Formats: sequence, C-alpha cells, structure tokens
Amino acid sequence: MRPKLVVGNWKMNGSRAANAMLLTGILEGLQDAKAASAVCVPAPYLHQCQDILTGSALAWGAQDVSCQQPGAYTGEVCASMLQDFGCRYVIVGHSERRAYHGETNELVARKAQSALDAGLTPIVCVGETLVQREAGQTMEVVGAQLDAVLAQVGPAAVGKLVVAYEPVWAIGTGKTATPAMAQEVHAALREKLRACNAEAAENVLVLYGGSMKPDNAADLMAQPDIDGGLIGGAALKAADFLAIIEAAS
Ligand code: G3H
Repeated sequence: MRPKLVVGNWKMNGSRAANAMLLTGILEGLQDAKAASAVCVPAPYLHQCQDILTGSALAWGAQDVSCQQPGAYTGEVCASMLQDFGCRYVIVGHSERRAYHGETNELVARKAQSALDAGLTPIVCVGETLVQREAGQTMEVVGAQLDAVLAQVGPAAVGKLVVAYEPVWAIGTGKTATPAMAQEVHAALREKLRACNAEAAENVLVLYGGSMKPDNAADLMAQPDIDGGLIGGAALKAADFLAIIEAAS
C-alpha cells in the first residue's frame, strides 16, 4: 500500500501577505492529516516557506529548475539553490512550461537529473492535449514523456521519482478525467516504470492533476494507481486544499 501525497502548485500566484494567510490556514487544519502534503511556490517565496513551514508537516518545493550547474545562466535557478532553501520537491515538465517555454522531453529529463543530483525529488509531469487524446495518441505521448526521463536517470533512480499525470485539457478547465480514464493512464505509466525497475515501480507515487477539487478527489484517489494529487486552483484556498488532503487520508 503506497502512502498518498497531495501537492499544491501555486503557479504564478501569491504575495507575501496572501501566502502567510494561506500557509497559516493550511497549518491550522493539518494537525490530524494522515496524507503527506507539500506546496510548490514561485521561487521568490521559497524563503518565506522555509521560515513558516520548517518543523511542520507541510513540505515545500519549486515549480521549475535549471538543468545547469551554477554559472552564467541569467534568470535561471539551479537545484542546489532550491536545496539551500529547504525544498524537498521540484516540479519538472509541467505542461505550461512545455507549452509556453518550449520545454522538450529531453530538457525535462535533464532537469529531473539536476534535481536528483541535488537530493531533490522531481515531480515529473506528463500529459496529453485534447487533440492528442482525440487522435488516440494519449499513451504514445505520455509514454514518450516518461521514457525520456527514465532513459536519462536510469533504473537506480526510478524509486526517487514522483510522476504526475496531468491531461492538459483538464488543467484549470473544470473538466476532470473520470477516475477510470485517469486510472487507465496511471496503470500504463506504472507499467513503464516497472519495465525500468520492477521493484522500485511499486513504490513510485503517481499523482493525478487537472481540476482535482474537494468533490472529486476521493473518487480519483480511490483508484489503485492514483497515489495523490497535484492541485492548481484548489490549492490557493486553505479549506479546499485541506479537504483534498483529508480525502487522501
Ligand atoms: O499543477 C497543477 C495542475 O496544472 C492542475 O491545475 O487544478 O487548476 O486544474 P488545476
């Protein structure tokens, strides 16, 4: 039985004042939670997370990382810097980075490697667009996205990954994959993980993301291969985020 994990992806939202209220609200309700939880915040707010969350049950992380080591890469943030601010996780390959910043499967794989090298857990996002789903290409697309990461990091690192299946058409749209649709893809992703490292694959958490809310979270997370959620909009309200963590507990 794998533990559940609920991760909030704040995307490009927040302010020092709003973050303090949100984090305090989450911590107040987190006392009895059984599921693990984390927030992935914009890089400027990592210090604030470290201040507020150190010693608490809520972990924190970033939403992207450079594939480079420290050096002349203006605007980039490297993995050792994230580690310096106490991050446990970093999201790599979110569909918004792939769509708006041209991130390829190969670049995402290098970012996952950088995260691992710094002792961080990469949350590797995969997902198909609506056009790809309607063309019957879902497995091919998400398979290639995951394969690129597995080829880069190798079998020994499989157990250090978290994978997130986020159908692009479900992100921020209010349209959620049905539990059965999501489970089908999660099971296929786990098969790929097994083919790389059969033993480690059983313990890899595969999260679902895409309009997960308090009212659909329990049904999604009841599926055998759905081990938690990567939450966007609903992670910006303490009550909703806590309700999803509760549904995972
Ligand atoms: O990383 C989170 C996902 O993009 C889901 O976002 O819950 O707002 O649909 P959403």
